[in-house]
Amino acid sequence: MPRVLVYTGILLAALALLPLALLDYARSTPSRHPRLQLVPDMDQQAYHRAQGGSSVFADGRAMRIPPAGTVARGELREDDAYFRGMAPDSSWVTELPVAWTMERIRYGQNRYQIFCAPCHGDAGRGDGLVARRAEQLAEGTWTPPSDLTAAVTAARPDGELFAIISHGIRKMPAYGSQIPVDARWAIVAYLRALQRSANGTLADVPESHKAELR
Ligand code: HEC
Repeated sequence: MPRVLVYTGILLAALALLPLALLDYARSTPSRHPRLQLVPDMDQQAYHRAQGGSSVFADGRAMRIPPAGTVARGELREDDAYFRGMAPDSSWVTELPVAWTMERIRYGQNRYQIFCAPCHGDAGRGDGLVARRAEQLAEGTWTPPSDLTAAVTAARPDGELFAIISHGIRKMPAYGSQIPVDARWAIVAYLRALQRSANGTLADVPESHKAELR
């Protein structure tokens, strides 16, 4: 084979790799400019950043202040019983403002075990793992979690328990920002189940199950 053909062949093979190398370079290097876009749609357009400035408005802000009294959809929270656990005369509601269903109690159990049991314990006796560990460490700064089946807590109206979960009590922090309203009521329902089971007597056991006790 003539030499010139061999060299031309090698050169062509090397050139054939060039587009691939350029592609790879384009993909792996950062650039402040948009890549070549055949159909740009509306991908790049002028916009203001949150909390940024703007010369369009007299006050120089890009973000507009909502007119006084504006409430976003679904944020009115007018229902005091549901959102604050309060009756119209500002006393605590004594009945759940949601339906008592088995499903809700089970959901409350699930939420309780996630949010409350680490401190208050699975049965609500104030002996959760965190509490037990803190007692082991004996640093002297730990406030023991309350026994939620105790008479004082059992006597609190439903609305007050809801408010305690929402805003905390004494040394216990608020859980309102972590637990949605509906889940808080479900936890209240489950607390009632815990209290009922902790303070049950033989008379609460149905006749058909009494035999199993002995
Ligand atoms: C970080 C630990 C911790 C978690 C989590 C926690 N608690 Fe508490 N809770 C406490 C402590 C501590 C107290 C007692 C505070 C005090 O006496 O200063 C308390 C007190 C209470 C009381 C008041 C008891 C009474 O009648 O005086 C209620 C009710 C209660 N907790 C419910 C809950 C519920 C429901 C949850 C889950 C949503 C929860 N707590 C999660 C630590 C916790």
